[in-house]
Amino acid sequence: MKHFAIVPGDGIGPEVVKVGTDCMEALCEISSFDFDGELFNIGGQRYLETGELLTDQDISDLKKKDAIYFGAIGDPRIKPGILEGGILLKMRAVFDQYINLRPVTSWFPYVPLKREVPFDIHFLRENTEDFYMGLGAKLRKDNGYRAEIGVKRESYDMGFDIKAEPSEDDEYSIEVGLLSRKGVTRFADYAFKYAQARGEDKVTLVDKANVITNNYGMQREIFQQKADEYGMKLDFMFVDAMSMAMIVRPETFGTVAVPNLFGDILTDLGAQLQGGLGMGGSGNINPHGLSMFEPIHGSAPDIAGQGKANPIAAVLAAEMLLDNQGFPEEGRMLHAAVRHCLDTMQVTPDLGGKLRTEEVGKAMVDFILNQ
Ligand code: NAI
Ligand code: MG
Repeated sequence: MKHFAIVPGDGIGPEVVKVGTDCMEALCEISSFDFDGELFNIGGQRYLETGELLTDQDISDLKKKDAIYFGAIGDPRIKPGILEGGILLKMRAVFDQYINLRPVTSWFPYVPLKREVPFDIHFLRENTEDFYMGLGAKLRKDNGYRAEIGVKRESYDMGFDIKAEPSEDDEYSIEVGLLSRKGVTRFADYAFKYAQARGEDKVTLVDKANVITNNYGMQREIFQQKADEYGMKLDFMFVDAMSMAMIVRPETFGTVAVPNLFGDILTDLGAQLQGGLGMGGSGNINPHGLSMFEPIHGSAPDIAGQGKANPIAAVLAAEMLLDNQGFPEEGRMLHAAVRHCLDTMQVTPDLGGKLRTEEVGKAMVDFILNQ
């Protein structure tokens, strides 16, 4: 019996997570897979009522679970950044979920060029380092154009003292993109293992090593060492060229490793290639600890409560969860249920369908139970 934390969150989060958990419950009836899901009330509503984001109690309760199934957070009444930083980014950091896995699959004929070449790109975005660590400061006259910034983590403990010598009354801001050898090494190791498990002989590393030479130079060197260690190929792509190549020849990519900032951007492009935000699932993975699976979209307050939310992204996140937890066969069943709904146009309005969220859910559950 698997023990999952279910965190529906805000807006359409609870609507789509319900479909995902219903599908997993249907799987329990037809396979050896079994789980119990404990609901966690974490998100904007609780924050408004109690001022709590992710508490120490939440963290210790979540730690007892095998995995987290997450909907979305975000509430228009709350200043942007509070929930993201206080809940989502904090979870990724506390549980050291250093891989963000985002598959980009051609569910539809490839729209931009109207080609029918199928593709299946698996993005592995580094999730804990690079420019997303909040390591920045303003250098102003009132702080003597000097800032001390630092980071303390299990893998590094360092501080910087940065001083600028600007002209009178000037102002500067800096943001540090930090990569550690330890962080890149574990990222590279995961990427090659992942590609190997998918039967591929190559990893594509995306960067901008021609300009950001220190960080991405070191990253290339470490990835090359790992490639040699695994006896596999390593391709390099600059991020600007990659964004063109994803449009022109997406079928030429398999496992793609990409640092945090560029990964955020490229995977949204990827989401659109596969039919929009309602079609993308993702995993925040700690290969040795607690992982969290979620649709890539947010809480979509513009459509919340209207039955318009496409539940496919959440179901694909559940597929990834099952795969991660050692139930790949059951995961494939969810994949087939999604395929079935697309083939029969039992889909929500964002995909040109007429069904409500819960009706798509019912179609999937019926499909699973009839296997
Ligand atoms: P969003 O992803 O919530 O919505 C963007 C657009 O896509 C909206 O028009 C929405 O209706 C549509 N959309 C999203 N998911 C859909 C689905 N499953 N079916 C049909 N249409 C869908 O992004 P937005 O509007 O930028 O952010 C809304 C809130 O969500 C904000 O508070 C933001 O901070 C938060 N957010 C949370 C994330 C998370 O929890 N991982 C990720 C992204 C945003
Ligand atoms: Mg993003």
